[in-house]
Amino acid sequence: MRVIRTKDYEDMSRKAANVIGALVVTKPDCVLGLATGSSPVGTYKRLVEGYQAGDLDFSRVKSVNLDEYKGLPKENEQSYYYFMQDNLFKHVNIDPANTHLPDGTEPDSEKACGDYDRVIASMGGVDLQLLGLGHDGHIGFNEPNDEFDKETHCVNLTQMTIEANKRFFASADEVPKQAYTMGIATIMRAKCVLMVVSGADKAQILKDAFFGPITPKVPASILQLHPNFILVADEAALSLI
Ligand code: GLP
Repeated sequence: MRVIRTKDYEDMSRKAANVIGALVVTKPDCVLGLATGSSPVGTYKRLVEGYQAGDLDFSRVKSVNLDEYKGLPKENEQSYYYFMQDNLFKHVNIDPANTHLPDGTEPDSEKACGDYDRVIASMGGVDLQLLGLGHDGHIGFNEPNDEFDKETHCVNLTQMTIEANKRFFASADEVPKQAYTMGIATIMRAKCVLMVVSGADKAQILKDAFFGPITPKVPASILQLHPNFILVADEAALSLI
């Protein structure tokens, strides 16, 4: 595990974007695993700037997103499909046919998850997986559990996650209760995992996840075993280390 300590959110976003940008330059047909949430928004802004400056070309890049709410149509502003269009895809020259998310509108969970695993496999795996960190240690929507879930699956979101995500919805009642997410094995198979963490409210979980025991009760802790895991975190998030 490599820890890159940054001053603040902006500094974190620039450094994370530099890591992704370097891959896009050196491997123009790379497969990027992408994430949602507030943590990567600044990283996406910097990537858009890199594209606008003529430094980054996404025309051959492929992407697979970590997760999607079950039951939200693409047009819903809270769907992760919409988030990705809004924060990255519509601002760069990525081919929409090369961007993938689990199909939240597919009611048959087994089909939605199996289809998504096949999409990821057909791309030959993920070169770099970007991640945020949930307050309970979740990655994607892999919530604390008694075991690590391996492949793409349907999860019941925990109350803590519903509470954390309700800021984006009119009320907690409107937050979907289920989601499709890549599994822990899918994430661990990425050649490189890049996590962005910012803010004092993440300090305790960052400490538990990366400086404590490896346990499915803190799903992100498994990343301690990844051979190429880069943690880009700001001073506030690293304040307990
Ligand atoms: C959601 C997403 C995760 C994300 C997490 C943390 O639950 N499914 O992928 O990492 O929220 O979000 P934030 O970065 O806003 O703290």
